[in-house]
Amino acid sequence: MRDVAIIGTGQIPVGEHWDIGIRHMMLEAGLAAMRDANIESVGAVYVGNMLSGEIAGQAHLGALAVDFMGLDNTEAFKVEAACASGSAALRVGYMAVGSGLLDLVLVLGVEKMTDTSGRETTAALAAAADAEYEVSQGISFVALNALLMQRYMYEYGWQREDFANFAVTAHANGANNPNAMFQRPISAQTYLRAPMVASPVGLMDASPVCDGAAAVVLAPAEYARTLNLAPVRIKASAVGMAPLAVHDRADPLALSAARTSSAKAYDQAGIEPGDLDFFELHDAFTIMAALSLETAGFAERGKGVQLALDGEIGLQGSVPIATMGGLKARGHPVGATGLYQVVEAVTQLRGLAGANQIPDAHLAMTQNIGGSGATIITHILEAMG
Ligand code: COA
Repeated sequence: MRDVAIIGTGQIPVGEHWDIGIRHMMLEAGLAAMRDANIESVGAVYVGNMLSGEIAGQAHLGALAVDFMGLDNTEAFKVEAACASGSAALRVGYMAVGSGLLDLVLVLGVEKMTDTSGRETTAALAAAADAEYEVSQGISFVALNALLMQRYMYEYGWQREDFANFAVTAHANGANNPNAMFQRPISAQTYLRAPMVASPVGLMDASPVCDGAAAVVLAPAEYARTLNLAPVRIKASAVGMAPLAVHDRADPLALSAARTSSAKAYDQAGIEPGDLDFFELHDAFTIMAALSLETAGFAERGKGVQLALDGEIGLQGSVPIATMGGLKARGHPVGATGLYQVVEAVTQLRGLAGANQIPDAHLAMTQNIGGSGATIITHILEAMG
C-alpha cells in the first residue's frame, strides 16, 4: 500500500434543499472539491449514499454523478453501509489509490431526506436495522437509541440532564459553521424543555432529518506533497462489524464494532487516543456520543457522560468533539455524514476552522456509525504541511 492524501474538499450547506435535486447537490460538492484540488478529471467517483432509491426513486447514483458532472466514461458507483455510507465510499477510494490502481479519486457523499414526510423518511431509515426481527416490531432508530439510553442510565445511574452538554456543545460549535443546519446556541434549559420524542430521547438528543452533500479528492501522498494544497494524509482506515440487530449483541452497550474499529485504526496509525487533537464522532444521538467516547478509549465504561459534564468535549477541552457542530447541529444527512466529518477535520488540520479552530491541530479521528452500531468506520487524518 502507498500513502493516500486528501488534496481537495467541497460541501454544500446542510439543510432542507427543496429547490434542488440529488444531481445538483452532487455537482456542487463534487466540483467544489475538484476546484479545491485544482484538477479537471479523476480516475473514479465513488458515491456514499443510503436512501436515494427508497426516497427519491433514484438508484444508480454513480452513473448520474459522472453524467451530470461531465466526467464522461469515468468509473463510478454507489457504496452503501447505512449511515456509514460516506466513510465506506471513502474507504473504497482509499483502497483504490493506496493499492496503486488509481491515482485520483473523487469521493462524494449525498443524501436527500426532506422531500418525503417524516413518517416515510423514518421508515426508510429503519431499513438499516434488522427488517425481520426489529423493524417488524415497529422499531425506529430513535426508539432503538432510546432503549440504549434507558439501559445506560439504569446501569450507570445517570439522569437525562447529564447528557445536556453533548447537545449544548454541538450547537455552540454549529453556531460558527456557515454550513451547519442549526446555527444558534442552545442552553441546558432548552435541552431539558425540548419535546420528548421517545423517552428518554428528547428533540435535543437527536440529530435532525436533513439534506446535504460533501466530497473529497484523494491522491497518492507522494504526489500530494508536490502540490501547494495543504494536503492531509489518511493515516488509518479501519472497519469494525457487530451483529445487525441490537438484541443479537452479547453486550449492547459495549458498541463492540467501535472498539474494534478504533483499535485497528490506532494500530495502523501507531498512535494512542491521547495523541489525537480532536475526535469527530458520530453523535446521531447523545447516547451514541457517550458510548463512542468510551469505546474509543477516552473514558472508562459508563463514564462517557462525565466528559461532557466536565466540559472536556468543548473546543478547549481534552477531547474536543463535533468541532463544527457534529451530527446534532451541523446535521446528519446520513450517507453524506462521513464525508462532512472528514471535510471538517481537514478544515481544522489546514488551520481554516475560524472561530472553532483547535490550536495547532495536527492529528484527528473521524468515526462513522452504520445503523445502531453494526458497521463502524474510523479514519485517522494527519496534516502533512
Ligand atoms: N434538533 C433540534 N431541533 C430540531 C431537530 C433536532 N434533531 N429536528 C427538528 N428540529 C426543529 C426544527 O427545526 C423545527 O423548528 P422550528 O419549529 O423552529 O422550525 C422543529 O424542531 C420541528 O421540526 P420537525 O421537522 O417538524 O420535527 P419532527 O418532530 O418531524 O422531527 C425528530 C424531529 C427528532 C423526530 C427527527 O429529527 C428525527 O427523526 N431525527 C432522527 C433522525 C435519525 O434517526 N437519523 C438516523 C440516525 S442513525
